[in-house]
Amino acid sequence: APSDPDLVARATAAKAKLGSKVFVLGHHYQRDEVIQFADVTGDSFKLAREAAARPDAEYIVFCGVHFMAESADILTTDTQRVILPDLAAGCSMADMAVLGQVEAAWDTLTELGIAGETVPVTYMNSSADIKGFVGRNGGVVCTSSNAKRALDWAFEQGSKVLFLPDQHLGRNTAVLEMGLSLDDCVLYDPHKPGGGLTPEQLRDAKMILWRGHCSVHGRFTLDSVNDVRERVPGVNVLVHPECRHEVVTAADHVGSTEYIIKTIEAAPAGSAWALGTELNLVRRLALAHPDKQIMFLDKAVCYCSTMNRIDLPHLVWALEELVAGRVVNQITVDADTAHHARVALDQMLALPG
Ligand code: 13P
Ligand code: SF4
Repeated sequence: APSDPDLVARATAAKAKLGSKVFVLGHHYQRDEVIQFADVTGDSFKLAREAAARPDAEYIVFCGVHFMAESADILTTDTQRVILPDLAAGCSMADMAVLGQVEAAWDTLTELGIAGETVPVTYMNSSADIKGFVGRNGGVVCTSSNAKRALDWAFEQGSKVLFLPDQHLGRNTAVLEMGLSLDDCVLYDPHKPGGGLTPEQLRDAKMILWRGHCSVHGRFTLDSVNDVRERVPGVNVLVHPECRHEVVTAADHVGSTEYIIKTIEAAPAGSAWALGTELNLVRRLALAHPDKQIMFLDKAVCYCSTMNRIDLPHLVWALEELVAGRVVNQITVDADTAHHARVALDQMLALPG
């Protein structure tokens, strides 16, 4: 639906009044009505770097989800303020790893005498608490655009990785990009004692995968891939690595949202693409490339409901409050957690390549 013209005018006016004091970051899964006001759009890696690269902006308005705003707060200076226009914009995957559960898992590894050889790696899609845990224990943060580089680094530091919280990104990267086998990976279930694994399984594993997943990308199935190939002969299937292993294995290409966009931009006119990622992005790509046939991989609608919570009314409210001198919905991470999380984030930003 087209944006409400009154709200568009108000957002434009508020941004103009704030000028260079405000910098608006927009994740690729955001609604069109919001993304039109982003100073920069990106995947979670690019947005983390952009936040760190804007020390002059007093306010960073993060149109994305909670863990991204936390990371931005950690990477910005003490005087900068990070604002999430709707505090209910969380991430169900990030919520699947809670600090107490991860500490319990680490205790299990410690009792078995294997914590010392284990390097914790967390996907960006995790709370600041989890990133702090990883930083305290010599690990690294990764995103979907640098997971292989992060795992290469981790396996130089130790012989085992505890990968949080997305089992699919961990498994897909280990098996499809690093030559590990499915048998090298075990699935740690935080709701079961000892993760539901035997000591032998934990000792033998190279990748201990946390039982978390993305509710959006997890919906694509092998059937969705087979169906689209039947319906559209010659179609290229391009999916995000948060998809299940069998989906990624059956696809033609896999990569982060930024990679998906670049691939579509470079694709020849007339080519057909089925995209296994969030629907706001797929629709935008289809509109921007009318010379290419771009479709959603599944028949069912598949927005990220929490990304979609950031809408134009919330953005207008946050911006107008700033104009009035009030900071609403500020995201802050306590100094101790931020310090350790920053170690793990800086380690990611320092990865070669
Ligand atoms: P990227 O931005 O790293 O592609 O991750 C996708 C995602 O699910 C963000 O929540
Ligand atoms: Fe979380 Fe998935 Fe939504 Fe990303 S798309 S914010 S991982 S639920």
